[in-house]
Amino acid sequence: MSGIMRMHVCRTVLLTGDARLFSGLTFNRYHRLLISLEPSVIAVGAIAGGRPVGLALGICNGTQEAELLSIAVAPAERRRGIALALVQAWSEEAARRGAFSMIARYSETNAGRAAFEPLAARAGWSAPAEDGLLVTGRAGAMAEAVGAWRAISGRLAQPHLYDYATMNLSDADRTAVSTCLLRPEANGMLGPLALTDRMAPAFSTLIRREGTVVGWVVASQPAERSIHYDEAFLDPVYWHSGITIGAYHHCYTRQAMLLGRDSVATYYTDPTRPRMVALTRRRFAQVADRVETILAVRTAPAQSSSTSFNRKGSTHEHCSA
Ligand SMILES: CC(C)(COP(=O)(O)OP(=O)(O)OC[C@H]1O[C@@H](n2cnc3c(N)ncnc32)[C@H](O)[C@@H]1OP(=O)(O)O)[C@@H](O)C(=O)NCCC(=O)NCCS
Repeated sequence: MSGIMRMHVCRTVLLTGDARLFSGLTFNRYHRLLISLEPSVIAVGAIAGGRPVGLALGICNGTQEAELLSIAVAPAERRRGIALALVQAWSEEAARRGAFSMIARYSETNAGRAAFEPLAARAGWSAPAEDGLLVTGRAGAMAEAVGAWRAISGRLAQPHLYDYATMNLSDADRTAVSTCLLRPEANGMLGPLALTDRMAPAFSTLIRREGTVVGWVVASQPAERSIHYDEAFLDPVYWHSGITIGAYHHCYTRQAMLLGRDSVATYYTDPTRPRMVALTRRRFAQVADRVETILAVRTAPAQSSSTSFNRKGSTHEHCSA
């Protein structure tokens, strides 16, 4: 994969193995991805005069939608078409690996928007649209706030009925999880089985009601003192009972105990979960450090529009400046 840019020769190269030479062209939180590129990571580098001058980095992890996590070009090399060539090369590689469409998410407050949005438009991606809310808080404050809600605290005092043990799946649990995932309400979810690779079991929970699995909260640990809550599911029969929030309470409490009250807890919620969006705005916004509106640009699906994209497959970390 290569391209000739205007002004001087610049190549785009599909990176493999150790790509740390390109670390200066992405954010600190992605440096670990560059140490040894996993098959699920697509990294396309731009090289001019033997130097790394650009990087498009993203994830294509078996779902039909690949996510571009970051793109950057060295300041001295900007406005020469390098980013456009990177986006095109990155998209071609994602399509080659089976992705039907591509997405890039970023915060509404991202300073890079002014350059990135016209770039995405030039590459043929959609206009930006609201994708969801990213909530960043502290485990201790979140646990206390949840525990203090009267509607929730009553439910928390039913240990004989509900159990929120840390994630440790038996064969029977796996079958129960697979059954839950067949429900239409689980559309777009991956569940603890598919998320095993990146799951942090100590901060994840299997929700049992009188011993039967009825839901889960799956968390990952992107940094030493930071937990991202990837996914929560509850059998709809038990909706409106505060059980999911109870599960979050247990997770935040464990996180505060194991990583400290000030350790960072993040979660992402999108419009396909309107109740969680409403709850986030009404309740969590009061105790969180910040609630950011996340925008997304995407390509049109390359194939049948009836395809349902599994948006939960993304890492929920965002393209940001
Ligand atoms: C965004 C960024 C990657 C663009 O890199 P680039 O190599 O300069 O972009 P290109 O030269 O390929 O630009 C292609 C098109 O994008 C648009 N574009 C790029 N930079 C732009 C800017 N600063 N303002 C407005 N439009 C811009 C233009 O339409 C441009 O075409 P044109 O030059 O023919 O008008 C670069 O500015 C950058 O590294 N920014 C910092 C990191 C960042 O914010 N990344 C985005 C979020 S992850």
